[in-house]
Amino acid sequence: MPCLKMWKRLLLLLLSVLVMTGCAIGTKAANQSQNKSDTPKSNVTVIKETKGAPLKPAEGKIMTVQLNSGYAMPVLGLGTWTQNNTNAAESVYVALKNGYRLIDTARYYGNEKGVGEGLKRAIADGIVKREDVFITSKIMPGNYDNAAAAIDASLKDLQLDYLDLMLIHQPGSNDKAVYQAMEQGVKEGKLRSIGISNYYTKQQVDEVLSYAKITPAVIQNENHIYYQNTALQNYVKQYGIVIECWYPFGGRGNTKDSFENKTIVEIANAHGKTPAQVILRWQVQAGYVTVPGSANPEHIVENIAVFDFALSAEEMERIAELNRQRRYENW
Ligand SMILES: NC(=O)c1ccc[n+]([C@@H]2O[C@H](COP(=O)([O-])OP(=O)(O)OC[C@H]3O[C@@H](n4cnc5c(N)ncnc54)[C@H](OP(=O)(O)O)[C@@H]3O)[C@@H](O)[C@H]2O)c1
Repeated sequence: MPCLKMWKRLLLLLLSVLVMTGCAIGTKAANQSQNKSDTPKSNVTVIKETKGAPLKPAEGKIMTVQLNSGYAMPVLGLGTWTQNNTNAAESVYVALKNGYRLIDTARYYGNEKGVGEGLKRAIADGIVKREDVFITSKIMPGNYDNAAAAIDASLKDLQLDYLDLMLIHQPGSNDKAVYQAMEQGVKEGKLRSIGISNYYTKQQVDEVLSYAKITPAVIQNENHIYYQNTALQNYVKQYGIVIECWYPFGGRGNTKDSFENKTIVEIANAHGKTPAQVILRWQVQAGYVTVPGSANPEHIVENIAVFDFALSAEEMERIAELNRQRRYENW
């Protein structure tokens, strides 16, 4: 009998070990699935109609517009013109940390390495994943005779496998070949969307459309309260082309013109917002994408805080009336 008792004890011991192991495995599995559901969700929220709509993204999400290429593009991002590699790395990191998911650079700016470094650091720190961020660069006129090589050079400096958007920086003598090189870049998976920059008239856009096999997704142009060019925006709507604004504040040396404009100041005071925020809010609410440039962390944070208020139809109209079709640059 003592032998039977011993066997019973052994059996009980074995059973309890099995139960405990099972519990441990179950807990681990539960933790794993918990971790899985804790992973950050995509930052993409598609907005179908931007005009006049109060753009209020769900918490922690960035508003995006659907491009004709099928990809979503954040409606507000960071511009990096005049920033060297060191400044660009820092401002890109600060921007991503503060919710930006669109970064604008160009081969011409000479800071693609810095932009790539800032992005790499943000990925390493778990702030973003590559697929959450929309990176734009541009092929500069000096490279128009070998655009394919320019695409590879941008990718290399940015340390990327693909660019979300590549633009022809400005019209040139051989735009067609440059555009075709970008189309080839799309075929090869190096570029997701392509577009043009500094094309201001229907005629200029029609010329590109006459040879484009892939319709441009974006036209990036000078655009601000004094140069609104709504005629172009209305014309390209039929092609699903989005207008992206450079110089939203008029550019360095000119920002006072915009920030001290009486109408802008009045509207800003009415909302408890800054003139910069009212201008950016007007642009995204009017259906534009905008890329304010800044290397100042406080401004970077300020410029993205435009999704918690809306301008009334009357305020939108008052800002529309500021248009003088006046550009600061002529390229
Ligand atoms: N495709 C093209 O041909 C083209 C041409 C020009 C520009 N771009 C792109 O468009 C982006 C925007 O243009 P941009 O940077 O030249 O001009 P911008 O955005 O109109 O103005 C930049 C200026 O505004 C200041 N600023 C930014 N936020 C501010 C705020 N909240 N309060 C006060 N001042 C503020 C900046 O100074 P701080 O640095 O001190 O903030 C800087 O002096 C460029 O960075 C570039 O990515 C494209």
